[in-house]
Amino acid sequence: MIPLIRGIRDIFPPDSDLWRHIKNTAENLFQDFGFSEILIPIMEKTELFKRSIGEQTDIVEKEMYTFTDRDGESTTLRPEATASIVRSYIFHKMYAEDPIRKFYTIGPMFRRERPQKGRYRQFYQIDAEIFGQSSPYADAQLIIMLTILMDRLEVKDTTLHINFLGCFKCRPDFNNSFKKFLIKISDNLCENCKKRAETNPLRVLDCKNESCFQLTAEAPQISEFLCKECKEHFETVCKALKNTNIKFQMNDRLVRGLDYYTKTAFEIQTDALGAQNAVAGGGRYDGLVKLLGGPDMPAVGFAIGFDRLAEIIALNNINYAQKPEIFIAALGKKCIKEAFLWASALNAVRIKTETEFSGKSLKSLMRRACKIGASNVIIIGDQELEKKEAVFRDMNTKEQIGIKLDNPVKNIMEALSKKAL
Ligand code: HAM
Repeated sequence: MIPLIRGIRDIFPPDSDLWRHIKNTAENLFQDFGFSEILIPIMEKTELFKRSIGEQTDIVEKEMYTFTDRDGESTTLRPEATASIVRSYIFHKMYAEDPIRKFYTIGPMFRRERPQKGRYRQFYQIDAEIFGQSSPYADAQLIIMLTILMDRLEVKDTTLHINFLGCFKCRPDFNNSFKKFLIKISDNLCENCKKRAETNPLRVLDCKNESCFQLTAEAPQISEFLCKECKEHFETVCKALKNTNIKFQMNDRLVRGLDYYTKTAFEIQTDALGAQNAVAGGGRYDGLVKLLGGPDMPAVGFAIGFDRLAEIIALNNINYAQKPEIFIAALGKKCIKEAFLWASALNAVRIKTETEFSGKSLKSLMRRACKIGASNVIIIGDQELEKKEAVFRDMNTKEQIGIKLDNPVKNIMEALSKKAL
């Protein structure tokens, strides 16, 4: 047996039934909000992720699956979707036809992290992005969409955390003041933070080391440095959320693990998954389209960790398997031949039908029907064939009626619709 690669999983029933339910719920909701699906490649030029996520981030420094392709090109398995969607928006000059675009994508991402519950090396994201809208209402709308999704999926006990990271005008003032503060405490910071204090100070606020956390407790806060435009933007986001009854918590440590964020940053956090507390994260990234060679175009988005979301919903213990409406219990060769034809015809008209070609006893076939949760069973043996009438058994009420075999598919459909009345 060849085992799986560490941190990489198969998703199979019943988990894949839940995953399908999540995917359908998300896609229906996103489409109601005007989002269209975008399919982006699994591999991109390494440069794309380095430039967008930032050279001094954990993702780029330690976690990317990067290899040199046979033509010498440095290639990376996507660690996230935003960079690729931005690349696609620019590459196809989508902004020229209509700058306002709303996209979603669902698929696997790759980060070489230490695997544990809720943290995998191949994991999945449900990602949504809005381009061309600078209004704070776009930020609020994304958060509202995310909250509705959590409600529809019955995700409980989560908290929405929000922070505001400033813009190109006011962030440098904060950075300078924060750097000065970090110099004073630098001797006691962890090695990583010592380095980051110089190159990417915001990352220090993200350090999981308890002593760095304590040392930065008295640090200057970004909220003290916001320019007028940023303050107004933030206030509008908060008011819009309050007006729609969305509860949130201000979190001035929430700096996110990627460098492209400006203004609003948010996360949905949970206690249900141990150390991996972020179920979803996102924010505004007004500079990224330009940074990657496009026009000056605002953008905002989020990504949900699909694996983590599924693990939380699984705690509700609901079975999402699709159960057959009809199971045809066919006894003997001749009946199996008929059952095969009826099952195909019923499936073609979208009636979930299963049958068995094994020629096993009625008892064993009924056991199978129960096991797969069929709502109704059609029993057909040589006797029924001769009488030209099969038995239709409602597995719930145990009631039985006859189904004339002159037009079995039509008659089965009629029996089902009578039941639905
Ligand atoms: P992120 O916070 O790096 O943001 O990832 C989003 C979510 O993906 C996390 O909250 C978490 O649930 C999930 N996730 C991340 N790493 C792993 C892992 N190793 N195993 C399982 N789940 C994981 C982004 O990726 C941004 N692109 C989000 C965004 C979109 N911002 C704007 N637009």
